Amino acid sequence: MKNLIAINGSPRKNWNTAELLKHAMQGAEDAGASTELVNLYSLKYKGCTSCFACKLKSRPHGTCAMSDDLSPVLERVKDADALIIGSPIYFMNLSAGTIAFIERLFFSNYIYSDEIPTVFPKKLPSAFVYTMNMTQNHFEQFGMKERLGMYELFARRILGVTPKILRAYDTVQFKDYSRYESSIFDAEHKFAYREEHFAEDCAAAYEIGRALVAE
Ligand SMILES: Cc1cc2nc3c(=O)[nH]c(=O)nc-3n(C[C@H](O)[C@H](O)[C@H](O)COP(=O)(O)O)c2cc1C
Repeated sequence: MKNLIAINGSPRKNWNTAELLKHAMQGAEDAGASTELVNLYSLKYKGCTSCFACKLKSRPHGTCAMSDDLSPVLERVKDADALIIGSPIYFMNLSAGTIAFIERLFFSNYIYSDEIPTVFPKKLPSAFVYTMNMTQNHFEQFGMKERLGMYELFARRILGVTPKILRAYDTVQFKDYSRYESSIFDAEHKFAYREEHFAEDCAAAYEIGRALVAE
């Protein structure tokens, strides 16, 4: 049986990013795979500390030498048949927890060699799921496609397959906007947009999960 591992890079376990990941997992399960959800913010771990143990000629490559809560997750990613990384956009980037996860996974499988683009043991189909306050227009206007595209390029190089991409724009951030300083948002518009689009985003996530394990 194939296994899909879904990484939730949002500290919120039941909000936009998590919800989309759950639909992706359902898609994978309906295609006959088993699934696992990892909530990064429940784990204690750091990003890469630049020890370079993974680059030593005297040591096997492809394993991060750091030992913390992320270590077993990185091992399970190697065994998985598909990987989905979900992240909210924080300050026009992935969340810090997601970046730290990516540093650990990608850098430990990369060895500064033109001849050997990756030491990851196999081709791993993957996807990125992004959720954000921004509209699609703002996403394009602020060059976000190019910025996030760098992570997608590294995923292509390290995991050996071009990742699938899902972007959920203009997400609802608060259940009750009136409780928070948030005058830049039109709460009514936010809920109307969600009503109109979020189900489509969930359906797209389902399809990504299904396709990742069907490949
Ligand atoms: C610290 C922080 C920074 C954020 N920065 C941005 C940003 O730069 N651009 C954006 O569109 N949304 C930004 N957001 C909004 C989140 O990306 C958005 O609400 C997202 O859907 C949250 O995902 P979640 O519901 O899964 O937690 C930020 C949210 C937080 C908490």
